[in-house]
Amino acid sequence: MTVASVYKQGWTLDDVHWSLFDPSKVEPSLLAAVKAAALVEYNAPDYVTYLKRVFADADPRTLAAIEQWGREEAQHGRALGRWAELADPRFRLADAFARFRKGYTPAHFTCTTNGSVRGSRRGEMIARCVVESGTSSYYSAIRDASEEPVLEEIAGRIAADEYRHYKLFYDTLNAQAEPDLSFWKKLWIAVGRVRESDDDELAYAFYCANVSPEEEASKPYDRKTYSRLAGQASMAVYRPRHIQKLVQMVTKVVGANPHGWFANMAGALLWWRLSAKSA
Ligand SMILES: [Fe+2]
Ligand SMILES: [Fe+2]
Repeated sequence: MTVASVYKQGWTLDDVHWSLFDPSKVEPSLLAAVKAAALVEYNAPDYVTYLKRVFADADPRTLAAIEQWGREEAQHGRALGRWAELADPRFRLADAFARFRKGYTPAHFTCTTNGSVRGSRRGEMIARCVVESGTSSYYSAIRDASEEPVLEEIAGRIAADEYRHYKLFYDTLNAQAEPDLSFWKKLWIAVGRVRESDDDELAYAFYCANVSPEEEASKPYDRKTYSRLAGQASMAVYRPRHIQKLVQMVTKVVGANPHGWFANMAGALLWWRLSAKSA
């Protein structure tokens, strides 16, 4: 079967061709990365609660779009988790997720006041666009790197969703009545969001997904170590064209030319940073 590179919105786990799963084509470092990604995606309901607070008095259409977005992100977690359970029968999404939830809660999820930690709705949407740019290029890279047909299909479906999410938040950004932010402010927020990728979320998800509870005593969690291991597993799938696409999407959000000198420089810097992080 040829797996189409573009999938439509509104798929379910039943649409995935699970019977094509080929255990001989599972690549261990890709499996480790997929397990970690499943936990982060599955954590979406907390982001929905937070975003609904940011848009507390927004129109019902915006709130419905946020709910739908959260359902799709959680489904990404279930799809990746189910694939990981097929590839590694010792892995249990529910168990790994319970450990992840116990040890990781970002500060802005525990805050109960309305408003964005980015200072404005526009700021929040810029940060969301950065995340969706990252996930859209990451799943495109996994789709292109995977020799296992079911993972290729799931990653293709997810990448298409993430690109739509980017468009949703980009349109929401531009629909805000708030005054536009300066280029430097937008860049500051975007770079800030990229830097947050250094926080515990990915490193701890990688740990909970790949170190069993029995191994915890002999392999205690260390942010630096697991951040590096998570970085290595992710970096292995990227090709320069995926990073280029990511940078073009982010550049568009901050209001610079996606094909100009700024995008080229940012692309080179990001490639260097990702390579250094995973070295
Ligand atoms: Fe997602
Ligand atoms: Fe997304």
